Amino acid sequence: MALDLTGRSAVITGSTKGIGRAVAAALVQAGASVVVSSRTASDVAAVAEEIDALGPGRAIGIPCDVRDREACERLIEGAVEAFGSLDILVNNAGLGRFAPLQEMDHETWDQQIRTNLDGVFYCSKAAVPHLMRGEESWIINLGSLAGRNSFAGGVAYNATKFGLRGMTEAMMLDLRHEGVRVTCIMPGSVNTHFFEGGPHPEDDWKLKGEDLAQLVLDLLAFPPRALPSKIEIRPSMPPRK
Ligand SMILES: NC(=O)c1ccc[n+]([C@@H]2O[C@H](COP(=O)([O-])OP(=O)(O)OC[C@H]3O[C@@H](n4cnc5c(N)ncnc54)[C@H](OP(=O)(O)O)[C@@H]3O)[C@@H](O)[C@H]2O)c1
Repeated sequence: MALDLTGRSAVITGSTKGIGRAVAAALVQAGASVVVSSRTASDVAAVAEEIDALGPGRAIGIPCDVRDREACERLIEGAVEAFGSLDILVNNAGLGRFAPLQEMDHETWDQQIRTNLDGVFYCSKAAVPHLMRGEESWIINLGSLAGRNSFAGGVAYNATKFGLRGMTEAMMLDLRHEGVRVTCIMPGSVNTHFFEGGPHPEDDWKLKGEDLAQLVLDLLAFPPRALPSKIEIRPSMPPRK
């Protein structure tokens, strides 16, 4: 039987493109009320309208730069005001800028830390009081296999995703007895706008946003006693090295 999320509400950061957008669409198609969000107000309005039209759930748009603590607080409050509660937070907004240490400038380092780590803290902190009131609440953080495997040029990105993996596990331990389940999803390559000029048709071997959306739906279908806390997902047939 298909998962029915009628009556459940969700905030998905960075959901105008890529993984976040696919997750937002899937949740609305499962009946949830969803806030679509990103830094670009025009995209937020257009994508929220498009996803809302999918039904049977609904979508509204609230712009939010997750590097801005007050904007994160407004995002969460806006969701609660619109839907009356908050059940699911997907901390998805993130970016990767790759360069060796000797070429990594301070601004690029700072932007990644602020987006990939500070943003998760700000949104989670604002959401927790609401999530703790719910019956089946969930925080889902988009980590990465780059949170387990370091690579040359990953000095900043690896730092954020290793950090996010540790942070998510600590959050899980803090919140499991409060009725809030916390999961870290760690994908390998996904064909999205994450990569310069993407998505690329020649990168068809990569995962698609829809694969991550299916994973989120499967996760939400688990009964309250079960908590898949860390999930790795990778392309099954990457090019041979
Ligand atoms: N693609 C991959 O191969 C891959 C693999 C593993 C993990 N991930 C993780 O998956 C997550 C989503 O990535 P994606 O591949 O879907 O990327 P994407 O296609 O580039 O989408 C990123 C989304 O986040 C938004 N965003 C960027 N900076 C933001 C900020 N400061 N505040 C709010 N929104 C912001 C973007 O919109 P605006 O720019 O308009 O704000 C966009 O909607 C990231 O955390 C990434 O690290 C991706």
